[in-house]
Amino acid sequence: MKKGVVVYKSKYGSSKWYAEKIAYKCNLECKDLKQIKIDNFKNYEIIIFCGAVYASGVSYKKFLNKNFDKIKDKKIILFFNGASPYDEATFNNVVKSNFSSEIASLPIFYGRGMWDLEKMSFTHRVLSKMLIKMVAKKEGKELQPWEQALMEAKDKSINWTDEKYIEPLVDCVLKLDKKQGE
Ligand SMILES: Cc1cc2nc3c(=O)[nH]c(=O)nc-3n(C[C@H](O)[C@H](O)[C@H](O)COP(=O)(O)O)c2cc1C
Repeated sequence: MKKGVVVYKSKYGSSKWYAEKIAYKCNLECKDLKQIKIDNFKNYEIIIFCGAVYASGVSYKKFLNKNFDKIKDKKIILFFNGASPYDEATFNNVVKSNFSSEIASLPIFYGRGMWDLEKMSFTHRVLSKMLIKMVAKKEGKELQPWEQALMEAKDKSINWTDEKYIEPLVDCVLKLDKKQGE
């Protein structure tokens, strides 16, 4: 097995949950992005970034765009999760608007996260309540997948996390190892 690490940036826990599952299934280390310095990445052959979408921005985008040149000789895989169900157009837009074309061509996977107004920071809760009110006014109009998820969740606590979302990523990592052994 190649030496690798899953690094996560998680505010309320779903990206951390996915990162720990991926690390366990692929026998990799797992670290909070806050606790790792860019120089430490030289110890690894595989690096998996795990984060979440906030207002269409991926939580680790700043770090990755800034440091990509220093780690691009590694096998890099991206995963992010959000409240929205998977939608190809939304996924492609998020990838395109967050990452350089070089990063966008890496293997990238998506899963659903969690939603809990009670646990949110004050700012996130205010923002989320405003969004819910705005979307609720769109009566009769077609809602985007993310807006539909908002209307489904509202003030409920919902956990959509599921190991099925990481299966394709785990296969991708295991194939990397197989290739090495051939
Ligand atoms: C202020 C705010 C904005 C969000 N924006 C989006 C979004 O644009 N698309 C989406 O699918 N989910 C969105 N979400 C949902 C988060 O991606 C989801 O809660 C995720 O599980 C958070 O992961 P984390 O706890 O690991 O940071 C948003 C959540 C909050 C609080």
